[in-house]
Amino acid sequence: MRLFITGGSGLLGSKVAELALEKGYEVYSGYCNHRPEFGEPVRFDLTDPDSIVRTIENVKPDVIIHSAALTDVDRCEKEKDLAYRINVEGTKAVAEVTKKLNSFLIYVSTDYVFDGRRGMYKEDDETNPVNYYGYTKLLGEKHCRDFCIARTCVIYGAKPASGKINFALWLIERLEKGENVRIVTDQYITPTLNTNLARMILDAVEKEAKSIFHLAGATRVSRFEFAQGIARTFGLDDNLIIPSKMSEINWIAARPKDSSLDTSKAARCLDEKPYDLKKALKVLKDEVEEVR
Ligand SMILES: NC(=O)c1ccc[n+]([C@@H]2O[C@H](COP(=O)([O-])OP(=O)(O)OC[C@H]3O[C@@H](n4cnc5c(N)ncnc54)[C@H](OP(=O)(O)O)[C@@H]3O)[C@@H](O)[C@H]2O)c1
Repeated sequence: MRLFITGGSGLLGSKVAELALEKGYEVYSGYCNHRPEFGEPVRFDLTDPDSIVRTIENVKPDVIIHSAALTDVDRCEKEKDLAYRINVEGTKAVAEVTKKLNSFLIYVSTDYVFDGRRGMYKEDDETNPVNYYGYTKLLGEKHCRDFCIARTCVIYGAKPASGKINFALWLIERLEKGENVRIVTDQYITPTLNTNLARMILDAVEKEAKSIFHLAGATRVSRFEFAQGIARTFGLDDNLIIPSKMSEINWIAARPKDSSLDTSKAARCLDEKPYDLKKALKVLKDEVEEVR
């Protein structure tokens, strides 16, 4: 199996590449600014449709995992044109070349396609993004309807990726230094360990599952509860975590209040099941210890 991963330098894509290599797949890791750690690096630019087509046609993959995106939610709100070019037009070109090559595609989408008024969203619930990032990812979905769409939520993992640190690592660093952190109690999520997500995605690849799936952690928590869980798992002082409210944060883009995803379809259909938070944090701790 020959795999082309867009976003091979990212938090999710790098883990997919690592695990796919372990499975013996031939792995090509697409990137733009940060050279990937795993797989054969292939530089291309999602703002340039010709570069997408040329790159993917050269590789001729059996499967494309389209994980790359402009993921900075506030930046998408400020730089709408760039967000549209990467997340919508880039995705359109990826989907078109997939069809041309008769290959299979998994498009990684987001909980932010929902407005967050209800939470525990199922795959066929009505979408209604509250910010431009969610809007572009939803338009991206429309180009990938013939393939697999994997929506996920707040990804975390043991290593920095794409030049960035994720929420879990940021929190661990701050608490280890004895610093206070303010975390919101009124935003609900189903946080997702990148290792579990990458395994579910590779499972969906093997099954050629042409459908929408909510691939996320199995436990709905507030961001505050998530932070407490991380602190306790790593033996850190959770008194340093100060409760705060979404209304106190100066985000540029609006955020959904409860974008938790119902993962029961994935649990039913895949061999790799969504982890509950306790299990995921235990795996994270083992992985962090291995990295250090
Ligand atoms: N992170 C989350 O909490 C979260 C939640 C829900 C859904 N998602 C979705 O999950 C997917 C993976 O997210 P992630 O957190 O792993 O992303 P990430 O760590 O922010 O990485 C983004 C990736 O996209 C690549 N990229 C950005 N602009 C590009 C361009 N113009 N051309 C080619 N590649 C470009 C980056 O490459 P370089 O670094 O090399 O420039 C990087 O590999 C995304 O589709 C995102 O929308 C993420």
